[in-house]
Amino acid sequence: MSLPDGAGHGTVGILGVGSLAGAVVEGLCEGVDVPPRVVLSPRGADTATRLAATYPTVRVAADNQAVLDASDTVLVCLRERDAGVLSTLTWSEAHCVVSATAGLSAARLAAAVAPARQLARAVPMVAVAERAWTTPVRPAVPRAVALLERLGGAMAMGSDEEFDAVYTALGTVAPFVDYLRTVSAFLADHGVDRPAADRLLGRSFALLAPELAAADVDLGRLLRAHAPSGGGNDQLATLLREAGVPAATRAALDEVFRRQTHGVWE
Ligand SMILES: NC(=O)c1ccc[n+]([C@@H]2O[C@H](COP(=O)([O-])OP(=O)(O)OC[C@H]3O[C@@H](n4cnc5c(N)ncnc54)[C@H](OP(=O)(O)O)[C@@H]3O)[C@@H](O)[C@H]2O)c1
Repeated sequence: MSLPDGAGHGTVGILGVGSLAGAVVEGLCEGVDVPPRVVLSPRGADTATRLAATYPTVRVAADNQAVLDASDTVLVCLRERDAGVLSTLTWSEAHCVVSATAGLSAARLAAAVAPARQLARAVPMVAVAERAWTTPVRPAVPRAVALLERLGGAMAMGSDEEFDAVYTALGTVAPFVDYLRTVSAFLADHGVDRPAADRLLGRSFALLAPELAAADVDLGRLLRAHAPSGGGNDQLATLLREAGVPAATRAALDEVFRRQTHGVWE
């Protein structure tokens, strides 16, 4: 496939080479006529070595500082507990730094990578590997946006508070899968083979994907469409509401948001 020329985008450095970085490199390089040059930090050696062996424009640096020294735009894919390493490195004013690290605030990022000033935070997903995710970004620094455009697109968030809320809201897949497992256990208790129950529910919910992915998706409308009055869906939704499930979900979200932002938006 043909994407914008990699030349002119400079070299992309990646600090923290795990599952997210693997997806990013695939999105930048797989099937791209002129992929950018990518320099990877050496930790997560298995992934880094595999990526460098797969894509000719990707190489592994000797250490984290060598990543910075070879890069114009640095994508931070570290876990928050490892992000302390950022302030041990020597940054340049010319660096554009894009952080994908959950829980790393704009203020902490800025302090850690000074004197770099072109800073953005982003919420990529592993779907960037297929360039199938529009990445929320804040602020919309041009070089950060240019990088994310190569990965499927960028969506500028209007404020830091909005950005942090989006980060929290996108971390809600596990409770959804937990819900499906509860339904699956119900089926198993009634004699359905557990793998078959998981498959049945997986396929049933996968059928929702086109409706959920539609550009004009309206969750209220979708709920009404799937809950004809008095039917099983309607009864279950009502019973769960009466049991306080939506309120508990909201309270848990508020608590995760508070923890991730250290209460800054309270
Ligand atoms: N995965 C996703 O879909 C996703 C989506 C959005 C945001 N994020 C965020 O992206 C970050 C990374 O997530 P992930 O799932 O890719 O985590 P991961 O698979 O655990 O990868 C993190 C990598 O960082 C490496 N690392 C640790 N300390 C380092 C250091 N001092 N210098 C260089 N590399 C170091 C780790 O190496 P070792 O294994 O040797 O410790 C590991 O390879 C997290 O903050 C996460 O919240 C992830």
